[in-house]
Amino acid sequence: MKKGKIGVLLSGRGSNFKAILEKVKKGEIKAEIVVVISDNKGAKGLEIARENGIEAIFVNLKEFNSREEYDREIVRILKERGVDLVILAGYMKIIGAEFVSSFRNRIMNIHPALLPSFPGLHAQRKAVKYGVRYSGCTVHFVDEKMDHGPIILQAVVPVYQDDTEETLSERILREEHRIFPEAVKLFFDGRLEIRGRKVFIK
Ligand code: GAR
Repeated sequence: MKKGKIGVLLSGRGSNFKAILEKVKKGEIKAEIVVVISDNKGAKGLEIARENGIEAIFVNLKEFNSREEYDREIVRILKERGVDLVILAGYMKIIGAEFVSSFRNRIMNIHPALLPSFPGLHAQRKAVKYGVRYSGCTVHFVDEKMDHGPIILQAVVPVYQDDTEETLSERILREEHRIFPEAVKLFFDGRLEIRGRKVFIK
């Protein structure tokens, strides 16, 4: 059977990308990572890609006249490499509608909260400030609305009274590294079926 192809978009540290890469290397995820793209030239994730012999590309938003043009360039790179699944691993840009429809149900995002709670930036800070007892992370397919598409997996962590944004982020990140690779594995095992807002695991 033909091996699946993954394209990763990231803006920073790349620890989720690394967690997925480990499972790819072990053969647990039946796919290969063919390209890593970033809007941030100095992203640590690009370095990790290069160290692992994966093509790493910085796409400079400033070189484009509009966000649509910038998105089109990224879609072009992904299509040219035959990417089956796009992974947003800490990618801090919103994906436009045209991008979403080019990879309908084939873009996955990780968000550091239990969606639909605390969408957008600084989710962990918002959770601490709100005083929730539990938070966590969500892996979901991307649709036209931010942090909104069908949910694939979630993990719950407790929030303690003396938590700070940093301590909660660390606790959540450990779960991110577990469920994001798991969701990618399910995708390439052909076990995810989307019906409306719901994702069924076969
Ligand atoms: C992760 O916590 C991820 O959930 C979050 O950015 C971090 C990236 O870390 N993503 C978002 O907030 C998206 N809105 P990483 O670069 O080490 O994977």
